[in-house]
Amino acid sequence: MQPKFSRTLVTAALPYANGPIHLGHLAGAYLPADIYVRYLRLKGEDVIFICGSDEHGVPITITADKEGVTPQQIVDRYHAMNKDSFEKFGMSFDNYSRTSLPIHHQTGQEFFLEFYRQKILVEKSEKQLYCETDRMFLADRYVEGTCPVCGNLEARGDQCEKCGTWLEQTQLINPKCKICGSTPIVRETKHWYFPLGRFQKRLEEYVNSKKWKENVRSYVDSWLKEGLEDRAVTRDLHWGIPVPLQGYENKVLYVWFEAVLGYISSIRELSQRKGEPDLWKKYWQDDATRYIAFIGKDNIVFHTLIFPAMLMAWNDGGKSHYILPDAVPANEFLNFEGKKFSKSRGWGIDLKDFIDVFPDEGRDALRYALAVNLPESRDSDFYWKDFQARVNNELADTLGNFVNRTLQFIQRYYDGKVPPISPDKGRDPDLRRDKTGDLDKWVLDQMDMAPKKVGRLFDDFKFRDGVVEAMSLARSANKYFNDSEPWRTRKENPDRCATTINICAQLTRSLAVLLSPVIPFASDEIWKMLGLEGSASRVKWDSAAEMKIEAGKQIGELKILFSKIEDFVIEEQIRKTASAEVPAETAPKAATAPIKPQISVDDFRKVDLRVGKVLTCEKVPKSEKLLRLEVQVGDEKRQIVAGISKHYKPEDLVGKNIIVVANLAPAKLMGVESNGMLLAASTEDGKLTVVTTAADIDSGSIVK
Ligand code: MF3
Ligand code: ZN
Repeated sequence: MQPKFSRTLVTAALPYANGPIHLGHLAGAYLPADIYVRYLRLKGEDVIFICGSDEHGVPITITADKEGVTPQQIVDRYHAMNKDSFEKFGMSFDNYSRTSLPIHHQTGQEFFLEFYRQKILVEKSEKQLYCETDRMFLADRYVEGTCPVCGNLEARGDQCEKCGTWLEQTQLINPKCKICGSTPIVRETKHWYFPLGRFQKRLEEYVNSKKWKENVRSYVDSWLKEGLEDRAVTRDLHWGIPVPLQGYENKVLYVWFEAVLGYISSIRELSQRKGEPDLWKKYWQDDATRYIAFIGKDNIVFHTLIFPAMLMAWNDGGKSHYILPDAVPANEFLNFEGKKFSKSRGWGIDLKDFIDVFPDEGRDALRYALAVNLPESRDSDFYWKDFQARVNNELADTLGNFVNRTLQFIQRYYDGKVPPISPDKGRDPDLRRDKTGDLDKWVLDQMDMAPKKVGRLFDDFKFRDGVVEAMSLARSANKYFNDSEPWRTRKENPDRCATTINICAQLTRSLAVLLSPVIPFASDEIWKMLGLEGSASRVKWDSAAEMKIEAGKQIGELKILFSKIEDFVIEEQIRKTASAEVPAETAPKAATAPIKPQISVDDFRKVDLRVGKVLTCEKVPKSEKLLRLEVQVGDEKRQIVAGISKHYKPEDLVGKNIIVVANLAPAKLMGVESNGMLLAASTEDGKLTVVTTAADIDSGSIVK
């Protein structure tokens, strides 16, 4: 039996403040979490959404060493950057905290000391690698050597990434300190261990009492089958939460021991800020709260076994009682153009860069494209071409087109006021019951079912299917518009036409609500265009089934929801991606051509550069190199011949805004007259790209 819960705590894995968030992170945990939370809020549930930066751990100190700055400077940089890009992307966290805050250090130490007090921590001496030059123990990734299993020369102290084997650092053959390159010695050190093994049985019971996604369950089962072992919870490091015990001054809590507790600290921080210091207990220490932890697959063991065991151990102490995760809907990985995201190889794209290239509506475009392609049960891939197709065919041509034609119709023929439903003679005024007006009933039935259908999928963490289902209502809405032919009935049967358009307005509102968890910005745009107050994210989910818009409602100003993404924009991204494949050091570099002799400003002003729009483009017969373009430059049409046929197909250029040298003396190329020249950038080794401008500048504009 599902117990009744009265509120929900949702957390998303705390990303390391050691680099920018990329699309893989979004698809793994953050986007599904945000869709879920936005959906629950629409359902009227009491929900809190928590995240923050994970600011400790060896990778961060290694980055700091490499850059010659402090770890604090690294985490300050990436915390600010990630917080900002999450915000722009529409992540609706109630708090985005950081684990370097005192409140978190306090939580981490509290847990450690409680386990220490209960005497469940075990102290063990072990042999570790120690660098005498740097005078420190070489934790995890501070040491590199040859993997004893596969012979990989760059295996890390904790794992060989080539063959996946988890290693003891003393197993490494020919180990080297990553800081100075010298060979470390083996030295004794002491660490505290959490007795995970002792929780095996209780964890099995816990796991069996919950419903898990299949992919999650199979990871958990394999860990349990292997048998759980004690885990070290301290490290020889200077960066992190100090171990609060005498004799342990040079050690910190292991990052994974404390990071998961960041979910608790983050709400504690929020509670303090709100001036309700006990608020967090409502979410963490009340059995009426349901806890859902969104993560990527590499974090499964920590959230399904280790963290629950830590909470059980705390609860055993009897001081207070924490709830355990009710679900851990972990996703698999998103790959990028067929390969794993890799920061070091520059493979993939960061959220920040993405938003720079595709600002504004690009954010929803990305949310949508990722949502319909989430790696929910197996790895999936982000392809630029697929992104473009999703935006152009689904957001622009399906959703945008429906909203646009509906509202334009109202604007043009009904003076901007939603026309009334006027049932044709002999029809039931409740259109849903009507047996004659099949089309109306057909589409209204779908609207009726949509919030339930989509909601059920979201409830089951099937966001991908849920979003596809919501979009299918937009598809039906378009079909309804087409088949009802309001442009014809407007003259032949005005009542029919009014009814059709009224229903289309209702569908528009419904779509705004159903899609608002996925594309919150566009949903609010639709809301405004409908002339509605407030926000599509602040109404009742179930109202998406209802005909809420009253006849006579004055609609607002119309805007294009999603513009299509042009090929050249996507091709440029693909080019960038491809160039990342070759590591920068080894990429052959063409010599830059020498700079020409200086000229004066006046010399430069003699050149009249104009924006021109390419109207037509074709190959010049019998020429391998030349394209003939017809270009609109202000009021004037010009023929320009350019030697770019090896780089562009004629259709690639049509519709582009290019830059034309407008006052160049005419010339004949292969017998064809050229009136001007277009600008293109080229390298010595023959790469060439035509200089283009944004689509929204008038042709004839002066370039200076
Ligand atoms: N920083 C980890 C990662 O990016 C996730 C930590 S989740 C937490 O893989 F629960 F431990 F915070
Ligand atoms: Zn060293």
